[in-house]
Amino acid sequence: MLKIGNITLEIPVVQAPLSGYSDRAMRALALEYGAELTYAGLMLDTSASHPRVIKKITFQPGPDEHPVGAQIHGTNPATMARAARMLQDAGYDLIDLNFACPARKVLARGRGGAMMGKPELVIEIYRRVRESVKCPLGVKIRTGFDDSQQSKDNFWQICQSVVAEGVDYITVHGRVVSQKYRGKADWETIKQVKQKFPQTIIFGSGDLFEPYDCVGKLKSSGIDGLSVARGAIGNPWIFRDIKAIMQGKPLPAKPDLAEQGRIIKKHIDMIFALYYKGKSVGYFRKFAAKYCLLHPERKKAASEIMVAKTPAELYSSLKKWYPIED
Ligand SMILES: Cc1cc2nc3c(=O)[nH]c(=O)nc-3n(C[C@H](O)[C@H](O)[C@H](O)COP(=O)(O)O)c2cc1C
Repeated sequence: MLKIGNITLEIPVVQAPLSGYSDRAMRALALEYGAELTYAGLMLDTSASHPRVIKKITFQPGPDEHPVGAQIHGTNPATMARAARMLQDAGYDLIDLNFACPARKVLARGRGGAMMGKPELVIEIYRRVRESVKCPLGVKIRTGFDDSQQSKDNFWQICQSVVAEGVDYITVHGRVVSQKYRGKADWETIKQVKQKFPQTIIFGSGDLFEPYDCVGKLKSSGIDGLSVARGAIGNPWIFRDIKAIMQGKPLPAKPDLAEQGRIIKKHIDMIFALYYKGKSVGYFRKFAAKYCLLHPERKKAASEIMVAKTPAELYSSLKKWYPIED
């Protein structure tokens, strides 16, 4: 059992923030399959502190999806603090500060991963946000900006200073920012973070795809929890599988086609309820590509489902490849 402030996780496996993916629909399915905490995708501080924007359904947490975290990025401590408070007031149970995002647009504005090179500003933002919210507050970092010594020093300085401020948890993605998503995640550094700061809750992130391997990484690093990211896209079953292994239960059978079809349809229905139907078919394509990986005829199924242009085409191609009920 893991306690993050007032949030209790029986099994410490969470669904990572995933920009462009972890909306209400994906989070609801992760929750259904055992993720005890999920996160919305990264939000810009200026958007999340804008009263009109924050009212949009896509910015709000769902009524029955607690606990759910919101993650923000920015460089202005006052705006970050305001955004955090508005998200807390909108119903998010936890605030996460992103100092890890490697997207070019984000880095160009000095946000996200670029903050790994600005330890003083990181702590200033952390303090301002801490003063503005009551809920648990954590940070998401990478193991540095690049492979330089200066970068390593900045990484340890950031860890040290947020720990000194009593951060509720740190999530470490075991890659440097310049690496983006290439190469293997460095779980050795994640393990060292836990060894240096044994009193702080540490989540690990990076290459969490196979349930047994995930649990192996958790155990061998000695950290407190796992933040499952790409491994959960089109695969909410990963949470159920990791939990079963952690509880010493047999690994559940792989979802059969009926179960896969039921979840895919549920996901599509939720997306249609959240967004304009026209836009939703295209938006769902990236999830379909992942869901189809479980299908025994994955290439054929994907090639038909992913060319659907209208909701009717999407439902009919789905029915062709999965035994779904109306
Ligand atoms: C499409 C995509 C979107 C992501 N969005 C976010 C995000 O909004 N916030 C964040 O902290 N990390 C984000 N990440 C990083 C993941 O949370 C995670 O740290 C990273 O993918 C490493 O884990 P993995 O190798 O198990 O996928 C994103 C990753 C991907 C691939």
